Amino acid sequence: MKIVLSTTNPSQLDTECLVVAVVDAAEKSDNGANDKPQIQLLTDDAAISAAAADLIASGEVTGKAMESTLLHRPAGLKAKRLLLIGGGKAKNFAASEVRKIAGAALRAIKGKDLKSFAIVAPATLGISAAEAAKVIVEGAYVGSFDPDYYKSDRKLQSIDELTIVAPPSSGEKQMQAAIETGTIIGEAQNFTRDLVNEPGNRMTPTILADRAKKMAGEVGLKCEVLGPDKIKELKMGAFWSVAQGSPDEPARLIVMRYEPAGAPEKPVLGLVGKGITFDSGGISIKPSDGMEKMKYDMAGGAGMIGAMRAIAQLKPNVRVIGIVCATENMPSGTAQKPGDVQIAMSGKSIEIINTDAEGRLVLADGLHYAKQLGATHLIDAATLTGACVVALGMINAGIFSNDDKFYESFNASLQASGEKMWRLPVEDDYREMIKSSIADIVNSGGRWGGAVTAAMFLKEFVGDTPWIHLDIAGVAWMEEAKPWIAKGPSGIPVRSLVEFVRSLDSNS
Ligand code: BES
Ligand code: MN
Ligand code: ZN
Repeated sequence: MKIVLSTTNPSQLDTECLVVAVVDAAEKSDNGANDKPQIQLLTDDAAISAAAADLIASGEVTGKAMESTLLHRPAGLKAKRLLLIGGGKAKNFAASEVRKIAGAALRAIKGKDLKSFAIVAPATLGISAAEAAKVIVEGAYVGSFDPDYYKSDRKLQSIDELTIVAPPSSGEKQMQAAIETGTIIGEAQNFTRDLVNEPGNRMTPTILADRAKKMAGEVGLKCEVLGPDKIKELKMGAFWSVAQGSPDEPARLIVMRYEPAGAPEKPVLGLVGKGITFDSGGISIKPSDGMEKMKYDMAGGAGMIGAMRAIAQLKPNVRVIGIVCATENMPSGTAQKPGDVQIAMSGKSIEIINTDAEGRLVLADGLHYAKQLGATHLIDAATLTGACVVALGMINAGIFSNDDKFYESFNASLQASGEKMWRLPVEDDYREMIKSSIADIVNSGGRWGGAVTAAMFLKEFVGDTPWIHLDIAGVAWMEEAKPWIAKGPSGIPVRSLVEFVRSLDSNS
């Protein structure tokens, strides 16, 4: 997708379709009456207001979020079409709405087989033109992804050119930088979605590692891939306990390093992803209903690979190590059994209660290894528990942390990323739920508080290192399409990780 910046007056721009955001600026009256919307177009080009005047007077445009209204041959405009997209209430309007509007516009327009459009950057309501440009580009990339890879009649509808319209006062340099940043982040998110979208037979641990390696070569990252022998040699008994059940698709430990010359020694951020390319449950096998979804059980790992890609391209002055523990979780003659005891790399002994609680096992060794490689701060991402989906639904990812300060600084980047996450506790009161009578801990705390006991398990392997755990089980896969994004892989938490690393770079 070519992205062009234009400082022409939007009404004078010759385009297939001009997109303008509209909001409802009506204040709620005291008597609680159902007030009529007060439509505000987010452009100060009077010709556009004039062209849309009749449409708005008709009451057809309400400003409701993602409502789209198309006008052909708008009077007085050079554009062939005018597309108004709702951004909700003016008082709640923020950059995250602009991102979604751009995605919704792109999806609506490509659905009409058009190849290009222009969008007015809504530099208003507290959003700068550069900020708007960045999120427009991100949103356009989000909207451009479709998961129907293997349909033989796949219609490749794509937008070739997107024009962002902003006043000349926005500053060419800042605008181009914002477009560049948005492109890198949007492409990284789609890179992750592409990995997650592939089914288990086409995204084995070996293929995932090869894709990471290829990407690393392209963006100048160091990437090392270790196989079963090395995993055993490193005494990763928790990771191996899952991998041992899948001799036909050998496990891969993917280690990516971003070490810019001249970056401060500390912090070293360790990003650790769960890369279960298919989770059958192992001997504690899952019911067949819905098991096909477990092809996305590598979304945490894919998220780390995508984040590392963007980090390598944005070049923040911070050291980052990315680790993905990739394996299938299969029942087989060599699979681990309930009751088995495993010794993790850290030396802790684990009683396996349920072989389907495998994500925490591979992460236990991934987190420990990240510390051994020098990580001073840890973030893991994993489709870890169904319990987290029960708690937060498919709206918020769960965040867990052993360090309030680290949590606060990460949480601050969610505003920039627009990804929704909600903190859940990790407290010693839960510790007894993972006690074992034969070993140090069990790998399943049972049904109640399942997302928390999974986090408690991980906490055993991070020690005093500031750590954040993201349970993305409910948000890594969109169960239904939204106007701005297709059904399928969401690419969460790539944007949040990238924004967080950007925030650590004091120069940016
Ligand atoms: N990969 C699953 C969790 C999951 C569930 C991801 C739904 C995405 C959607 C994980 O490995 C798992 O099976 N967790 C078990 C843990 C239990 C056995 C303690 C679960 O959540 O049921
Ligand atoms: Mn499982
Ligand atoms: Zn799993």
